[in-house]
Amino acid sequence: MKTALVTGGSRGIGKAICLRLASMGYHVIVNYVSNDAAAEATLAEICSAGGSGELLKFNVADREEALKCLAGWQEAHPGEYVEVLVNNAGIRKDNLLLWLEGDEWYNVIGASLNAFYNVTRPLLQPMVLKKKGRIINMASLSGLKGLPGQTNYSAAKGGLISATKALAQEVAARKVTVNAIAPGFISTDMTTGLDEEALKKEIPAKRFGKPEEVAALVAFLVGDEASYITGQVISINGGLY
Ligand code: NAI
Repeated sequence: MKTALVTGGSRGIGKAICLRLASMGYHVIVNYVSNDAAAEATLAEICSAGGSGELLKFNVADREEALKCLAGWQEAHPGEYVEVLVNNAGIRKDNLLLWLEGDEWYNVIGASLNAFYNVTRPLLQPMVLKKKGRIINMASLSGLKGLPGQTNYSAAKGGLISATKALAQEVAARKVTVNAIAPGFISTDMTTGLDEEALKKEIPAKRFGKPEEVAALVAFLVGDEASYITGQVISINGGLY
């Protein structure tokens, strides 16, 4: 059975991706950082739909913890490897740079950009050796255009986009593809509290996207038919730029 790892997989977009990949026959490793109940509920949903999965709790922003957990998983599963990696975990701490605290900068960069290194680096070698792998990085519209109040988040996601393009070229010949997805507004905990009615007026499609719509794009990118697509940033934003 092929294995997929989804970071921040316990809720929101990550959860929808876990369920979708499980429905495609992947054994899904659901990474999460703190909410045991949400993670267990996601795993229960995977299993009750006839899928296979397991939980792997670690903080993707913590290099040593990530390395230890991933090495532990690999040791416990000799001969297996993570063929699909979805670097989905991320946080927002919006503030104008004038008032942005150090923690708000470093934590946001840590959860998206440093996490890309912390998780991808240990999992890359088996993909390259097996000559098959898919890496999908969850970026953002904010990382493409830069949004005021989000210098930290825009920098994290913009960096992730550049890392995607660079790594794609490093591993393309080994049949590993690396792509980024740049969602606009998707209905999850991350967008709860935003003025949805006002924001919807600015979106050409006049609605927020659904986590399942992002998961469907991930499903396409992991498939064999997407094997010539690499180093790309694919927007899913209802026409909002
Ligand atoms: P969410 O807040 O519902 O879920 C984020 C997930 O990441 C949670 O499961 C959380 O526990 C996990 N996470 C955060 N920090 C972590 C850490 N240090 N270690 C492990 N897991 C961690 O958010 P949502 O909306 O599902 O976001 C998923 C991804 O999509 C994020 O990277 C976000 O930046 C990105 N995104 C979301 C958009 C939206 O409108 N919802 C728009 C553009 C991008």
